[in-house]
Amino acid sequence: MTTETMNLTKKQLEDEILKLKKELNAVILAHYYQESEIQDVADFIGDSLELAKKAKTTTADVIVFCGVHFMAETAKILNPEKTVVIPDMQAGCSLSDSCPPDKFAEFRRQHPDHLAITYINCSAEVKALSDIICTSSNAEKLIRQIPESQPILFSPDKNLGRYIAKTTGRDMLIWDGACIVHEAFSEEKILKLKLQHPEAKLIAHPECEEVLLQHADYIGSTSRLLQYVKDDTSSAYIVATEPGIIHQMQKSQPNKTFIAAPAQDDSCACNNCPHMKLNTMEKLYLCMKNLSPQIEMSDDLRLRALAPLEKMLQMS
Ligand code: 13P
Ligand code: SF4
Repeated sequence: MTTETMNLTKKQLEDEILKLKKELNAVILAHYYQESEIQDVADFIGDSLELAKKAKTTTADVIVFCGVHFMAETAKILNPEKTVVIPDMQAGCSLSDSCPPDKFAEFRRQHPDHLAITYINCSAEVKALSDIICTSSNAEKLIRQIPESQPILFSPDKNLGRYIAKTTGRDMLIWDGACIVHEAFSEEKILKLKLQHPEAKLIAHPECEEVLLQHADYIGSTSRLLQYVKDDTSSAYIVATEPGIIHQMQKSQPNKTFIAAPAQDDSCACNNCPHMKLNTMEKLYLCMKNLSPQIEMSDDLRLRALAPLEKMLQMS
């Protein structure tokens, strides 16, 4: 806690955030993986696609993005005239980091006849080198619109890529990247949990490894997983994605049981995204108070990254 916030109680911090929101004409957008307190002060909580759409249509002057850097950067690409702040500029993404722009440019050069469909979990530089951006909600829908004869490069998530290749029957060239959180789950411990809770369904994000997805009763993006537990009649679920999502699941279905899927390593909370969890209520308050740190980028980069994002929004 900094000297600027150390005298504030949790309630005062929340009140200050709501007061600043009015003064700044700001909107607080939060991803489902944010800590519960942040989700509770947000105006809108969503998955990557919903947050990008919301960022495009907001009438607020300031977008306070409670998520990771590539998400706030996407909001800025779609809204150059607005101020976009993020509680912690260091909130990155292992998946995005697994795809450096120079290596991705080389990958494209090696396959000049391929169309590059790139998951939104990447930097603005990688977006700018791509043809179409996708999210886990719309990847399948977008790929089904590409003619069969068109070869595809799918980057950077190999697990999502493999899953989509399987569901669409498309033979794609897939970048070798992964998310540290979704690769941390233990198949063995999850199978044990299934035996202990035979009534529980396993629901999983497609960023999980294939070995885990093969046991899943349902696979989907964060918002699809949330919708599934609302529509489905089971009483319990083992949730194989970042456990921040359980806050909204529990709020919407208070009589159901949600069990966070365990990680292989008992010595860490490895199923928690260390990047998402860098954002705290204190940092949220400070970024609004100081209007810093802000996302900034050159017009040239922004316009190149905008084209494949616009294509995604048109196609989804
Ligand atoms: P979605 O919320 O779009 O499913 O993405 C999950 C994720 O890993 C975000 O970083
Ligand atoms: Fe990136 Fe994985 Fe964290 Fe999502 S959960 S922000 S993909 S590291």
